[in-house]
Amino acid sequence: METLFSGIQPSGIPTLGNYIGALKQFSEVQDDYDCYFCIVDQHAITAPQDRVKLREQIRQLAAIYLASGIDPEKSTLFIQSEVPAHVQAGWMLTTISTIGELERMTQFKDKAQKQTEGIPAGLLTYPPLMASDIVLYDTNIVPVGEDQKQHIELTRNLVERFNSRYDDILVKPEIRMPKVGGRVMSLQDPTSKMSKSDNNHKNYISLLEDPAAAAKKIKSAVTDSDGEVKYDVENKPGVSNLLSIYSSLTDESVSDLEAKYKDSNYGEFKNDLAEVVKSFLTDFQERYENYYNSDKLDEILDLGRDKAQQTSEKTLQKMENAMGLGRKRN
Ligand code: TYM
Repeated sequence: METLFSGIQPSGIPTLGNYIGALKQFSEVQDDYDCYFCIVDQHAITAPQDRVKLREQIRQLAAIYLASGIDPEKSTLFIQSEVPAHVQAGWMLTTISTIGELERMTQFKDKAQKQTEGIPAGLLTYPPLMASDIVLYDTNIVPVGEDQKQHIELTRNLVERFNSRYDDILVKPEIRMPKVGGRVMSLQDPTSKMSKSDNNHKNYISLLEDPAAAAKKIKSAVTDSDGEVKYDVENKPGVSNLLSIYSSLTDESVSDLEAKYKDSNYGEFKNDLAEVVKSFLTDFQERYENYYNSDKLDEILDLGRDKAQQTSEKTLQKMENAMGLGRKRN
């Protein structure tokens, strides 16, 4: 069976964008791959985090993975910082990365620009750590949203470099993006990405927010003055974004939805979508509460850590042997 790996940062509460771009895909592939899903807390600290909040967000994210349909009997769910091989291999991959290629990462450029008190070095060296998350499990497939594409391409380059420079041991991963909803946009500014760290709460819908409040945000989402419910990202980014969200949550195709709302105005379309979002969140949060309040959550994370440790340690040893670190082990 091939291996699949993905991760989410506990840097806030995941949004509908994270669900549609990533989480929804995860539960759909569990039977087809040996899956590892990671709460990447070491990535989260590349931006300052409140210690108490971070701990809480880690637990929330674990329950969110489960509420999204991750079945711990089938998939391995674990916390990055509890498996030391990630930073160990991350350091090794940092040494074969160039500053130039890391500086070219769009996400680095965006985040660096927003810093007022110096750019944390972790923002720059984040992609080799992400590459290490992936390669440690001999990962074949990485399901992510569109914004991670460049990081996966870099991972592929680092794998090639490592294999040709040292030993041919790392597996080169393929990216997998959803057909619809690979880039869910902000509700008030549909030309920028929906993000869990956005300062304006009207721009995003958190998976744990009040479903009625979320419905209101959909109703007041920015559209255009043209009045036609039609998918056209360039000219109608707002409506196209709402169509993607609708399609992803109901599994109705965008063209079926266009046909359904051919004679409707935006108000009717948005009202229906608001209901779809409301009922999705209500069901999701009911599942979430059960997991969050259950003692099982720690058991699941303990088991996940042990399994991840076992697998990742093997690759780490091979990498250390290939680079000549420490003493030879077999
Ligand atoms: P993060 O935490 O920013 O996002 C988690 C996942 O959600 C996707 N996503 C979106 N998809 C559609 N529309 C959006 N608006 C949207 N916003 C986010 C992301 O593409 C991602 O799939 N670096 C990663 C975490 C990571 C990782 C990994 C992922 C660390 N190591 C190894 C895969 C493999 C990140 O910051 O994701």
